[in-house]
Amino acid sequence: MNQIIRPAKCLKGTVQVPGDKSISHRAVMFGAIANGDTRISHFLRSADCLSTISCFEKLGICFEQDPDRDEVIVHGRGLRGLSAPSGILDAGNSGTTTRLISGILAGQPFSSVLDGDDSIRQRPMKRIIDPLLLMGADISSVKDNNHVPLRISPSSLHGISYLSPTASAQVKSCILLAGLYADGKTSVTETVLSRNHTELMLSAFGASISSGRTLQGFEASILPGNELHGTDITVPGDISSAAYFIAAALVLPGSEVMIQNVGINPTRTGILEVVARMGGNVRILNRRMEGGEAAADLMVTSSSLSGTEIGADLIPSLIDEIPVIAVLAAFAKGKTVIRDASELRVKESDRIRTTARALQAMGARVTEQPDGMIIEGGIPLHGGMVESCLDHRIAMSMAVCALASDGPTTIKDAECTGISYPSFFQDLRNLTCETM
Ligand code: S3P
Repeated sequence: MNQIIRPAKCLKGTVQVPGDKSISHRAVMFGAIANGDTRISHFLRSADCLSTISCFEKLGICFEQDPDRDEVIVHGRGLRGLSAPSGILDAGNSGTTTRLISGILAGQPFSSVLDGDDSIRQRPMKRIIDPLLLMGADISSVKDNNHVPLRISPSSLHGISYLSPTASAQVKSCILLAGLYADGKTSVTETVLSRNHTELMLSAFGASISSGRTLQGFEASILPGNELHGTDITVPGDISSAAYFIAAALVLPGSEVMIQNVGINPTRTGILEVVARMGGNVRILNRRMEGGEAAADLMVTSSSLSGTEIGADLIPSLIDEIPVIAVLAAFAKGKTVIRDASELRVKESDRIRTTARALQAMGARVTEQPDGMIIEGGIPLHGGMVESCLDHRIAMSMAVCALASDGPTTIKDAECTGISYPSFFQDLRNLTCETM
């Protein structure tokens, strides 16, 4: 399905973004391996999170869910309560499902095969296969190419101390989850802290987990032995989804948007830091804690922006926002340099290439770099035909770009927004004023 976006005058109003994707996935997974019920409120009912639910259904877990409500009840069966799957586990488009569930499956007394869609079949899995093998797991890539399908068979797991070569929450979480089934302590160290939802939520479920700074970086450690207990989780709104409205309101003159109930865990707020550096006006109001996670309302007013430089220290905290930050940069005065972001090449699409090509199609001056891009901002953009490349974040970022460009834009295969934000276009329309 193609989506046509016309230029807008401004964005005004209040919006509530859907629940955080990373937190929704984890609540399902940890609920499944906990004893008793877990009630998840403001769950993200998007394709990715539904892939996680369907994998656990195949592993014998029952869920109570209503397609019209964002509440899910997970009837957990304890650490050793999963049963052998009735067929191949299908992670769909979801890297988080694939990598986190692999850690859980490595500790099970049955074999399973994990697969996904064409995009997930191209994403690197060596990053989880290697540490799981070090733990003694029996895991192999069925086609011997370090991609899914993966076959995971029973084995005895040992605790390891792992220095992660990439700051990846999916890798860290996979290892910590396998650590629940190991014979001793498991630690993961990363030089820059990646999102820490696993550490926070496993602790809320009663796991024996600790984290802190060491000489080498940021370490998270888990001890096996504790059963997890079901708990109630209220999922804050996803800052990665809020990012599209933040960007649109900043670049469209006369805009004022209130985004309610957004998760502002500091491992996720790199976009707020970058926006502040660019001169963007985002006020953080009503700060509070929700289910162990920081949340707030964000008031965004249109601002005149300047280019900036973004490097290694910030990349993990804004990794999924880089396509929309590139859009901001295209409307900012001067040059923006994004470096140390080669991880973008192995996301749902090669996001350095797909972002650069999509922006170029609208007249932006963007140069691809091996590990990022350089954007010369301030050149007026025109509408056109834009490939989403079936990547939800490219589709939504380019919708924002289209609002502030001249003439209509067609975004191809825009239904991929359903991966993380099924009501995105409706919510955007509700805020858009005076389409020209
Ligand atoms: C996620 C971690 C990030 C992020 C992804 C969600 C998670 O991936 O890009 O969208 O939920 O742990 P990496 O761990 O590969 O950086």
